[in-house]
Amino acid sequence: MSHVVVISGHPNLQQSNTNKLIIERLAGSLDSVDVRCLDTLYPDYQIDVAAEQQALLAADAIVLQFPFYWYSVPALLKKWIDDVLAYDFAFGSKGDKLKGKALFLSLTVGGPAASYQPLGYNHFTIEQMLRPLQQTAYLAGMAYQPPIATYRMVYIPGVYNKLEEVQERAESHARRLLAALQEVLESDEERIRRFVSEWFEQFDQLPEASEYFTARLAADVDWNMPEGRFLGHDGFRDWYAIVRKVFKPGCDHRVEQVTIQPDGDDYQVELRIRLLADTFADSDLKGEPIDLLVNEIWQVRLDEQGRVTIHNYRVVPVG
Ligand SMILES: Cc1cc2nc3c(=O)[nH]c(=O)nc-3n(C[C@H](O)[C@H](O)[C@H](O)COP(=O)(O)O)c2cc1C
Repeated sequence: MSHVVVISGHPNLQQSNTNKLIIERLAGSLDSVDVRCLDTLYPDYQIDVAAEQQALLAADAIVLQFPFYWYSVPALLKKWIDDVLAYDFAFGSKGDKLKGKALFLSLTVGGPAASYQPLGYNHFTIEQMLRPLQQTAYLAGMAYQPPIATYRMVYIPGVYNKLEEVQERAESHARRLLAALQEVLESDEERIRRFVSEWFEQFDQLPEASEYFTARLAADVDWNMPEGRFLGHDGFRDWYAIVRKVFKPGCDHRVEQVTIQPDGDDYQVELRIRLLADTFADSDLKGEPIDLLVNEIWQVRLDEQGRVTIHNYRVVPVG
């Protein structure tokens, strides 16, 4: 099941007329959701970085929910971004922890839509004003989604809007966001992405039993490795036995790039992987540690329940 982490950046959610309602709808509608209200968690702005990073690790999709303040995020959410998206977590040589996770910016805006146009008094579109956050997502390797923004969300009694109007717009905003989340999380591409990371999570442990893997391989799988070509489940088991004699459990397949393309009824998945592993002294690799870049090309198929099966698996060392 897909897990969504919602970061509420409103500095005073209890006083909110719109963000609060959107958050309540998300919390009530998503099966697996962690809503993190920064104003109650961190009234003193001292963010618990480890706890926030831990929460993000479990996410398939991350929603930043905030009121648009001075053409940007509120200070509390900016502090969260500055502290949590740290070196070797979100960027840097080991900073791949957010890679592939979908990022949704979900914001309420005071001004009318017409003002966020070249000839309007705000001159720039919301998409343009959110560029720094878009690039932040790109640097962290996240899958940036089109922002979900709703205009005319200020309620000042007798001056701007009616309470029922902004709340109705908040309801509609929540419905749009939920539909966008559902579309992304239930897409074939997203299922395949999750499959790839689960596969390597299991594989890195090199368990003695190979059932996890064979359950995800077609009976006639074509398995093409630097060690040779292996066919079907028996072929896979032969190859797996070789690999377990060479590599120590606890290896690290780092997925640096994933491209997923439809190919008839199947999908072709192209992966760029960095493999870091320790080897056994009595193996061909003589106990030398491995740091290897490989391309992998998988042919996969999804059944009606969205389960993924690998039909063809090819590893090509780079360089
Ligand atoms: C400090 C502050 C700055 C704001 N800056 C902007 C802004 O730059 N552009 C805009 O359209 N609305 C702006 N607003 C209006 C808020 O976006 C609006 O009040 C908010 O989205 C309503 O959300 P809430 O009901 O959850 O509090 C600002 C409001 C505050 C309090």
